[in-house]
Amino acid sequence: MTNKQSTIEAFRQYVNSGKVAFYERYDMDLVMGQREGIRFRDVEHEKSYINLHCNGGVFNLGHRHPEIIATLQSALENFDIGNHHLISTARAEAAKLLAGLMPGDLNYVVFGVSGGEATDTAIKTARGYTGREKIISAKGGYHGHTGLALATGDEKYRLPFGKQLPGFEQVPFGNIAELKKHLDHQTAAVILETIPATLGMPIPTTGYLRDLRKLCDENGTLLILDEVQCGLGRTGKLWAFQHYDIVPDVVVLGKGLSGGIYPVSATVIRQPLEKIFHDDPFIHISTFGGAELGCVVMKKVLEISSEKSFLAHVNEIADYIQDQLEALTKKHPKFFIRIRQKGLMIGLELKDELCGPLLTKTAFDQGLLIVYANNDKRICQFLPPLIATKKDVDEIIPKLDKAMSEAQKLKPLLKVKNFFGKMFSKS
Ligand SMILES: Cc1ncc(COP(=O)(O)O)c(C=O)c1O
Repeated sequence: MTNKQSTIEAFRQYVNSGKVAFYERYDMDLVMGQREGIRFRDVEHEKSYINLHCNGGVFNLGHRHPEIIATLQSALENFDIGNHHLISTARAEAAKLLAGLMPGDLNYVVFGVSGGEATDTAIKTARGYTGREKIISAKGGYHGHTGLALATGDEKYRLPFGKQLPGFEQVPFGNIAELKKHLDHQTAAVILETIPATLGMPIPTTGYLRDLRKLCDENGTLLILDEVQCGLGRTGKLWAFQHYDIVPDVVVLGKGLSGGIYPVSATVIRQPLEKIFHDDPFIHISTFGGAELGCVVMKKVLEISSEKSFLAHVNEIADYIQDQLEALTKKHPKFFIRIRQKGLMIGLELKDELCGPLLTKTAFDQGLLIVYANNDKRICQFLPPLIATKKDVDEIIPKLDKAMSEAQKLKPLLKVKNFFGKMFSKS
């Protein structure tokens, strides 16, 4: 048995047999090997892939960014996880830098390990501060698979695991009239991704987010914005909400904060909200949340991502890619309908629900990793690393063009063969 085969067998036997069966079915049983910058290789084959999914932003800075690696290596000389019960230099410094990069009095940082944990913290904070229970989220939004985060999300992720928790309601994203029917003086918080990734990047209007902010203020309701995917420069501004001239009460961050190297997440809260810790400062704790090594890495990520030249680069590449993607909509009008875009937060809107999974597969065959949006399969999420260059774009576009041509050839065969089976059926 080759190394790759033995890895696959061990994964099948000891990690997740369903995942292996799924990838084998579509001949996509890649095992991630050597990785650097925007690319990674299969452990065995020479074939390399350009990462246009970036794990939703984990690899905003590409794989194994040299400055992040060097930062972690030097941090290992002095730090370890630290002790979350004690006062910590690394946590204090990372929080100070993050607070300084936030507008208004978004001054306090509660550290976590994952985006789901940071969302749970945000909801606990809102309930603790307001004394209310109701939480409103967007249909098709996604904030994680942990307890309270799971309760904000699509029922398909919850149903196999029991009853919904009390106090959670959902409204369609972008519809202020529907929101008005739910939002009242019993509402602790509205939680939304500023641009919902799992829903396929619908770009909100400025009016929607401003009206939402106003409604929250009128009702004493907190506004939680999840920027786990759209934050950290992805949209061409450091925070996506800065495009809309609003300031939320709570911001949830994860994924890219890790630099792709050391997991860390953060719930940033406005100054007055910190009072939830006054009676009992240990009322919410997380052993690994804000591990000191993670805090050092996060500081470096924030320094890189907030540089003017870095954000200028994101905007330059975003404009360059937009022109080329628009040309592809003209070339494949029956397949590729339009682009949804804010900076390098991009959704490729395709003809129908078969197209997202299909393009994921044909792009994979061309050496591009893109993934359809699970809560709207017409859309392929297209998230290039923020360090991608024009030369990289020149390599990506012809491959995407080919993948679209292939997808159109395959499409008529799919209905006959039920190629995508239950996994991709309309939900
Ligand atoms: C917008 C958003 N919020 C929260 C999460 C949850 O993050 P994690 O998987 O780190 O718990 C995700 C994960 O994909 C996400 O995309």
